[in-house]
Amino acid sequence: MTLKEALNRATSALAAHHISDASHDIQLLLRHVLQITQAQLYLQLEEELAPPEWERFSSLLERRLQHEPVAYLVCHQEFFGLDFYVDRRVLIPRPETELLVEMTLDFARSHSAGRPLIIADIGTGSGAIAISLATNLINARICATDLSIQALEVAAINRARHGVDDRVVLLAGNLLEPLPETADLIVANLPYVSAIELQRTGPELAFEPSVALAGGPDGLESIRLLLHQAHELRQPRRCLLLEIGQGQSEEVLRLARNHFPEADIQAHRDPGGIERVVGIAFPG
Ligand SMILES: C[S@@+](CC[C@H](N)C(=O)[O-])C[C@H]1O[C@@H](n2cnc3c(N)ncnc32)[C@H](O)[C@@H]1O
Repeated sequence: MTLKEALNRATSALAAHHISDASHDIQLLLRHVLQITQAQLYLQLEEELAPPEWERFSSLLERRLQHEPVAYLVCHQEFFGLDFYVDRRVLIPRPETELLVEMTLDFARSHSAGRPLIIADIGTGSGAIAISLATNLINARICATDLSIQALEVAAINRARHGVDDRVVLLAGNLLEPLPETADLIVANLPYVSAIELQRTGPELAFEPSVALAGGPDGLESIRLLLHQAHELRQPRRCLLLEIGQGQSEEVLRLARNHFPEADIQAHRDPGGIERVVGIAFPG
């Protein structure tokens, strides 16, 4: 069978299972098996696919037909222009989270005054946020925490891949508890999917760790606890940035204002117009 025939056959199989982006997904899987670029794929369309390659391709196709996300099949995902290793131990980093990184970089650059900053990334997962910050802020030290030891194993792979082992510390534990010192900035993308939403979501989310998604009855369990801990532990010194889900800004703003009446607290919209980040800037 030629590459072109394999592509056509597999794309039809995915489309028959109502999987959107069938053609895009199949090209990614075939390129992954053959370890070739998009341009090479086009140039080699009439070449034969060897039996072992067809076998590997078929087994990935079978998993995709079961709705396993492509990022887990090819073991990587791009985030903030960097390539991250991912597998089922971690949430697949989402494009909407890039806003959190951009806002943290803006705040860090305008407030560091040349001093090395200490930044905490709470619920680091694959390490996508922590490592994007470390590669863009060469003076910053990042403490990245997660409750999941398995997620921290993946973050360690990515930390080594991007050469920031010396500036990203990985710490296991509940939210802010493992932090060894007061951070200047805290950034967190915690689980915020409500119980009802979780039931309604498509089959792909079932492959991601539930500890990365499930935020309790209204989705805000982890965020509530984080705000409580931040208040009790007097963290951070300068600014706390939280990613939130659609429709959660009103309640998160209310909680934040209760805990920190002296702070400047605002919700920020993502490019799709959804209030996606709540920023809490402390005076001084
Ligand atoms: C939505 S995922 C975000 C992962 C990554 N920061 C990203 O943006 O792609 C939430 C992460 O928080 C972690 N987590 C959940 N509850 C936690 C807790 N109480 N303390 C620390 N980490 C927690 C999960 O294991 C998961 O890795």
